[in-house]
Amino acid sequence: MYQAPPIPSDVVSLADYEPAARQRISAQAAAYVNGGAADELTLRANRDAFDRLRLQSRVLAAMPEPQTRLTLFGQALDFPILLAPVAFQRLVHPEGELATAFGAAAIGAPMVVSTQASHGLEQIAGVARAPLWFQLYVQHDRGFTEALLRRAEAAGYRAIVVTVDAPVSLRNREQRAGFRLPPGVEAVNLRGLPPMPPNRASPAESEVFRGLLDGAPTWQDIAWLRAATRLPLLLKGIMAPADAARAVELGVDGLIVSNHGGRSLDTLPASIEALPRIAETVAGRVPLLLDGGIRRGTDVLKALALGARAVLIGRPYIHALAVGGPVGVIHALKILRTELEIAMALTGRPDLDSIDRSVLWEG
Ligand code: GLV
Repeated sequence: MYQAPPIPSDVVSLADYEPAARQRISAQAAAYVNGGAADELTLRANRDAFDRLRLQSRVLAAMPEPQTRLTLFGQALDFPILLAPVAFQRLVHPEGELATAFGAAAIGAPMVVSTQASHGLEQIAGVARAPLWFQLYVQHDRGFTEALLRRAEAAGYRAIVVTVDAPVSLRNREQRAGFRLPPGVEAVNLRGLPPMPPNRASPAESEVFRGLLDGAPTWQDIAWLRAATRLPLLLKGIMAPADAARAVELGVDGLIVSNHGGRSLDTLPASIEALPRIAETVAGRVPLLLDGGIRRGTDVLKALALGARAVLIGRPYIHALAVGGPVGVIHALKILRTELEIAMALTGRPDLDSIDRSVLWEG
């Protein structure tokens, strides 16, 4: 039987999990998980922007049957928090994604499984009893990409999340730490992917433009994917209202407003700063989700106030996984859910539909 490691008694918030995790994982793994792009300005902005927003309390509201339920793409959820796709979870825990899926199922939070998971997507589906979504990185080989999609459908995944913001990235913290995947940790779902055609760039040409970007997805691929699956299709990594509008026109079912946790293009604004204008453009045609910097129930409330239907957390549950395996994941989600409920109670919001901009202090 699985022996849950005890959660240290001084871990009482999501942020407390980070230092606790550092004691359990390698410096290289910490650099991979915690790092962002370049100078990490966007990584910090994600937090700072939430901290700058203030709430307006409301007292003495009668709340006969308060609840945090919602329906998302036909799926009934108890609370509006999902687990974001995070690659290579065996870097921080021997059971990796299996432990995460087990914890997510126990508390009923959808887990978005990464294309770069370190366990097979079918094996993860085998342990999960809660909804799983599949995060798809469009591969340079479109036939292989379609095969991944079919595998996810066959394994019972309930939605496809196409990450569109990271065809290339530059992570100096990882470079400084000399990050490499340790033996035994690999993107097992990409086994059999034909190698990239050799880089055609001559020494005088750009390696990025003539090399890395070969095979990067475009809007045409989104139209193809839209036609290729009946599952709800979401794009993750939308920060521009114009891109949001184009995605909706192509028939995608949802958007994740995200700057990839500050891991893609540095000096982008915080995702919570990008949300209001995207919400205005999309005008309720598809649900918006948001990730980037969520650490507190008050952050969840702020994201919902500015137009998100639900949020995703990434690094905090990876820290919790490192510390406590599935029990850590459950504990972290429980903390965030409880904090959201407290924030709703103190702002007089009995359910998610009653959360709007008036939750925010307008000064
Ligand atoms: C992968 O998507 C990463 O951000 O490392």
